[in-house]
Amino acid sequence: MTLLTDELKQAAAYKALELVQDGMLVGLGSGSTARFFTEGLGRLVAEGMKVRAVPTSRATAELAAELGIQIVTELIGPIDLAVDGADEVDPALNLIKGRGGALFREKLVATASKRFVVVVDESKLVKQLGVGVLPVEVLPFLWRSTAERVAGLGVSLVIRGGEETPYITDNGNVVLDLTIDGGIKNPGEFGLELKEITGVVEHGLFVGMADTVIVAGPEGPKAVGRLSGGAVA
Ligand code: 5RP
Repeated sequence: MTLLTDELKQAAAYKALELVQDGMLVGLGSGSTARFFTEGLGRLVAEGMKVRAVPTSRATAELAAELGIQIVTELIGPIDLAVDGADEVDPALNLIKGRGGALFREKLVATASKRFVVVVDESKLVKQLGVGVLPVEVLPFLWRSTAERVAGLGVSLVIRGGEETPYITDNGNVVLDLTIDGGIKNPGEFGLELKEITGVVEHGLFVGMADTVIVAGPEGPKAVGRLSGGAVA
């Protein structure tokens, strides 16, 4: 039987629901895979589970509110569990995120979490990051000058949405989509180089951040990585 990508995304997201426990503060990711998780969490809440959630985008916040999930925007202490999708996952569980445009808040939520779980269908697995574009969020003020400095790293780039109608993030910034010939050989180093550029707000490289990646393929969802305190196997 051939499983559609959406069914695989749903399978990965539902597997992550097994990690949610009553009373948890949960980080909610953005994108189509994370949406399945939020919808599943909404069902658990409707059945009586008590959780609070920190959404990574306005879209996720709206969905969570519709589903009756209590939202927290100011944190006191860490998030227990954050669950989010990814655009690319390499064998070391480094990620590219942000093709949905929510990378900055996604990184903030992942960083503030005790456990960061990534849910993907198997098409997201790559040998080396950089198969597709790497999103970089930059301040709109003097963005062309920022883009020139980013291009100086030896990449080609476009502003998402085009110069006339640029895509604007939830934080009021623009996104540069970078294409890196030959892929990203050292994601850690490249991420640091990007962060040093004035005008760069955040980039979509998530290096050493994922504790667990749940990958769904035809054989069902499988968890890879550190499996602390959870039922996923
Ligand atoms: C949004 C993201 C998403 O998690 C990523 O783009 C994956 O999306 P999808 O689950 O729709 O394939 O990083 O900023």
